[in-house]
Amino acid sequence: MPTSVSRVVTASRVAEVVGTLTRPAYASLADALRLAIGDGRIPVDVRLPSERELCERLGVSRTTATRAYALLTEQGYAAARRGAGTFTRIPGGRARTLDRALTTRVGDDLAVDLNCAASSAPPGLAAAYQAAVADLPAYLSGHGYYPAGLPELQRLLAEGYTQRGLPTAAGQMIVTPGAQTATAIAARALVRPGDRVLVEVPGYPNAAAAFAGAGARLSPVPVGPQGWDLDLLESTARRLRPKVAYLVPDFHNPTGQLMSEEQRARAARALADARTVVVVDESHQQLALADRQMPRPLAAHVAAAGGTALTVGAASKVLWGGLRMGWTRVDPDLAEAFTRARLTLDLGTPVLEQLALVHLLGDLAPTLAFHRERLREQRDALADALREQLPDWDFELPQGGLALWCRLPTPNAAALTEEAERRGLAVAAGPVFAPQGGLAAWVRVPYTRPVGELRRAVEILAEAWPIVRGEGLDATSTARRRVRSIVA
Ligand SMILES: Cc1ncc(COP(=O)(O)O)c(C=O)c1O
Repeated sequence: MPTSVSRVVTASRVAEVVGTLTRPAYASLADALRLAIGDGRIPVDVRLPSERELCERLGVSRTTATRAYALLTEQGYAAARRGAGTFTRIPGGRARTLDRALTTRVGDDLAVDLNCAASSAPPGLAAAYQAAVADLPAYLSGHGYYPAGLPELQRLLAEGYTQRGLPTAAGQMIVTPGAQTATAIAARALVRPGDRVLVEVPGYPNAAAAFAGAGARLSPVPVGPQGWDLDLLESTARRLRPKVAYLVPDFHNPTGQLMSEEQRARAARALADARTVVVVDESHQQLALADRQMPRPLAAHVAAAGGTALTVGAASKVLWGGLRMGWTRVDPDLAEAFTRARLTLDLGTPVLEQLALVHLLGDLAPTLAFHRERLREQRDALADALREQLPDWDFELPQGGLALWCRLPTPNAAALTEEAERRGLAVAAGPVFAPQGGLAAWVRVPYTRPVGELRRAVEILAEAWPIVRGEGLDATSTARRRVRSIVA
């Protein structure tokens, strides 16, 4: 367990997360605690205040406190330890929060899972689902298929783009189950076997796999500490005239780079001139951690240059991956091809999740503020721990996004991640982000878990690193190492 997490939650902290109780008070108190334990505002395995402390701080009766703890215990979110008090739990243990495809060790022996760069749900998610359930009856008399998306959601999403300087009609929005599905549909709609697709290296591997799966030949363009290699992007566009370019200009995964306004204009011009359709993945666009004006959407630059773009977005990184909510903004001339390709995969996105997203988007500012503050704190704690314990690793503090992209002094990332996993830390090595090989001296360390877990992760990395450092194997053949290949 994390070492730095306080093992006690105070009555004041409980009062803060619980807010105003409704009637019956015991059920309202238990509900609020269950939600806070579930979404991590109250950690797991900490002692709850005694019933007496709770009564005094919340101004409730002893019976209310006793019944609330009894209900919480019955639901599996708390357990009494004789003589020690009542402790928080998650029913089913942590294995319930992990998936076998993403994390090979889903048991309790996995101390920290940093294979996915994705946070736990922010407060307000369960309430949005409750509001969505209340809205649902109005939709039940229809057939429930929305291959384009619920009109209300399309409208809200379109408004968001218009406000960011990319005028968008609701009819240009197509709602999908996550950004990856949107990219996979784009690959189906746009790519034929043998077509060239420009991708970033390092880059988001599932997107590259979607284009490769559609038969594309991938043309990599590096993203380094100075950002995108625009000279190479321009010459690749001129020489190869790729059918598609897949770019993540806003807090690129895994480097965290943000493409500047000038770079966007250059990239857009080169790709528009080559008649390359630009698939812009904005999954991380709302994850700015510095107070700064964001550049205009890349698709706006593409439009200004006379080109065609398709912008992919999602609620996964800014709200919660479990929503499985994403979308695409298509230029009108691509709408039909995209919808046709979509219908070969699925016929729409679940109505309940779309309704929940409508509620969440209706009042996004406090959720965003909470999420960014939490990420800032976690990023800084991770950076401090790495600087202290692994001073010869190199990284830039990103202005946004979800991970530190760390350069190791020797190319042993795969060996490192294998050794770390033996010690209970799942984390992705550089080669995962290079579909054609390379990046053996890099590792992606997300700051998406609580500070205590991040410090534990760095302790594990610092134990594993001296064991594998300088080993020759990775440098000559990454293939000889088992590199975890499924990440998010
Ligand atoms: C750049 C990028 N695109 C897409 C995805 C997948 O998003 P979703 O969960 O919405 O499918 C991720 C997740 O890591 C990502 O980093």
